Amino acid sequence: MGFIEVKDLKVHYPIRSGFFNRVTDYVYAVDGVDLHIEAGKTYGLVGESGSGKSTIGKTIIGLEKATSGKVFYEGKDVTNKQRRDKEHFSKNVQMIFQDSLSSFNPKKRILDIIAEPIRNFERLSAGEERQKVLSLLDTIGLGEEALYKYPHEFSGGQRQRIGVARALASNPRLIIADEPVSALDLSVQAQILNYMKRIQEEFNVSYLFISHDLGVVRHMCDELYIMYRGRFVETGKKAEIYSDPRHIYTKRLLSAVPTLDPVNRDANKAKRRETEKAFREQQAQYFDANGRVFDLQDITPSHKVALDSKGGR
Ligand SMILES: Nc1ncnc2c1ncn2[C@@H]1O[C@H](COP(=O)(O)OP(=O)(O)O)[C@@H](O)[C@H]1O
Ligand SMILES: [Mg+2]
Repeated sequence: MGFIEVKDLKVHYPIRSGFFNRVTDYVYAVDGVDLHIEAGKTYGLVGESGSGKSTIGKTIIGLEKATSGKVFYEGKDVTNKQRRDKEHFSKNVQMIFQDSLSSFNPKKRILDIIAEPIRNFERLSAGEERQKVLSLLDTIGLGEEALYKYPHEFSGGQRQRIGVARALASNPRLIIADEPVSALDLSVQAQILNYMKRIQEEFNVSYLFISHDLGVVRHMCDELYIMYRGRFVETGKKAEIYSDPRHIYTKRLLSAVPTLDPVNRDANKAKRRETEKAFREQQAQYFDANGRVFDLQDITPSHKVALDSKGGR
């Protein structure tokens, strides 16, 4: 059992229209997913834009409300706010976002930005707090001079590192990182991912790492959840997903990973075209008559794929 278990989570947003502003339909942003989070591990949540990744993250921390399904923390149901507060869930699960400039208060200094989560949970003297923030800054490679600066005085990469430090401040067990490097240059991306890996070893924190790119999460993740249209099409250990993808959507995501290898460029291009064609032609095999992703079936004890249970394959 993981310390966090998400069971059959659904988040449906009502669509209102017409003169009376009635609910006429729903966006099935998340439509029946299970997640399992263990200590010290990194989970990739990967899918194209609009597939429901951010909604899962926000619902776990309580920024969005579940339509149905449950979130368990240490076996206790923390789906509703009262229970989350009682279990100090928000201290233990933090979230960082793609664009930390907009998630930081521009008028606050880095000292206050990083200390804010601690102020909610710990009663430290000003000196102790400063010490704690300094040690967090040190973890992300910034020095004392950063304390009294404002967010706009840092580069995008530095700000994302500050976001990591802030998330770490309350000593969480899980950090949900929603596309934390997607807005950054490749070299800066690699640097942030390295920091995150090192921090994981030091703090034994788990990550739910959200990305639209299977290339970015490759070196980070122990396990992956591949998401499409509000549902998981495939889940499994890293090796199972990258070396033995079974769902056409996973194959498509993999073929979209850019390669820096000029020798095989033409071969890769051809492969990508082939996968796109298969994706178009094999819809009936991988999605039901309404285009909905099938329920997951076990391939191995750890590898699951959404296939027609009536034995299409
Ligand atoms: N507050 C909201 N109201 C209505 N629809 C929403 C809301 N938030 C997200 N959605 C819709 O839910 C779907 C999933 O969105 P999101 O979780 O942001 O996807 P992702 O993070 O994978 O890009 C999208 O179709 C999006 O337009
Ligand atoms: Mg998103």
